[in-house]
Amino acid sequence: MANLIDGKQISANVKEQVRIETEQLKEKYGIQPALAVVIVGNDPASRVYVNNKKKACEYIGIRSLSYELPGATTQEELLQLIEKLNQREDVDGILVQLPLPSHMNEDLVIQTISPKKDVDGFHPESVGNLSIGRKGFVSCTPAGIIELLKRSKVPMDGANCVILGRSNIVGKPMGMLMLRENATVTICHSHTKNLKKIAKSADILIVALGQPKMVTADYVKEGAVVIDVGIHRMEDQKLCGDVDYDQVEPIASAITPVPGGVGPMTIAMLMKNVVEAKEK
Ligand code: GUN
Repeated sequence: MANLIDGKQISANVKEQVRIETEQLKEKYGIQPALAVVIVGNDPASRVYVNNKKKACEYIGIRSLSYELPGATTQEELLQLIEKLNQREDVDGILVQLPLPSHMNEDLVIQTISPKKDVDGFHPESVGNLSIGRKGFVSCTPAGIIELLKRSKVPMDGANCVILGRSNIVGKPMGMLMLRENATVTICHSHTKNLKKIAKSADILIVALGQPKMVTADYVKEGAVVIDVGIHRMEDQKLCGDVDYDQVEPIASAITPVPGGVGPMTIAMLMKNVVEAKEK
């Protein structure tokens, strides 16, 4: 039986710390962090995520400014809004929810956000800082996974860490963070040969493939720690991850559930980044 890595509880602990920090900023200096949340179009999943982020702001004591733009907004209009938010001294963090409509250049939009307000950690400057070990904002999902592992006392130094997935948001920054923790890192992707064999060599297996229940028992070494980043709604309306939980749980030494694993940590780390942006 694996230990359950309880993301709901751990994220509540992180949020409580950030809430207290925010309260102290207000008491000592009379300042309140503010996050601008921008969403373009009507993607239902994005709307849920954005609402959850706004709710978390309210709980922490962060002021949230909401910009809900129609799907037909031009790229120029979005860039102008970002420029305006970059200039505003009363805005500490800017979050543009992805994906954007197909007529927009996501890279250009991300690049336009000031690195000082890049609480998502997606700006090339933030990514560069992470890759050469400098301070800076780090993408919230991988940062949340490090927090889960640390607070669950999973040893990372010298561990064999295999990451399935090479996205800019999760896989690549996850690799950088794991290197920072002195793990030996392998990043696998759709062209990787012998995927099962490599996955099975992992002490820590991080799965961010976007394929429901793809990781079955034969991908996992006895006693491995398994982190599941995926979230999918199945036909029966139940949520599942990229890992076949029922198969893998008896083999792993520790595992994150879906829901209630990695997901809640992403928002907690975003809140942490916003307060940090204010402190900076
Ligand atoms: N879409 C999916 N995940 C994220 C995220 O972490 N930040 C933003 N801005 N958009 C996303």
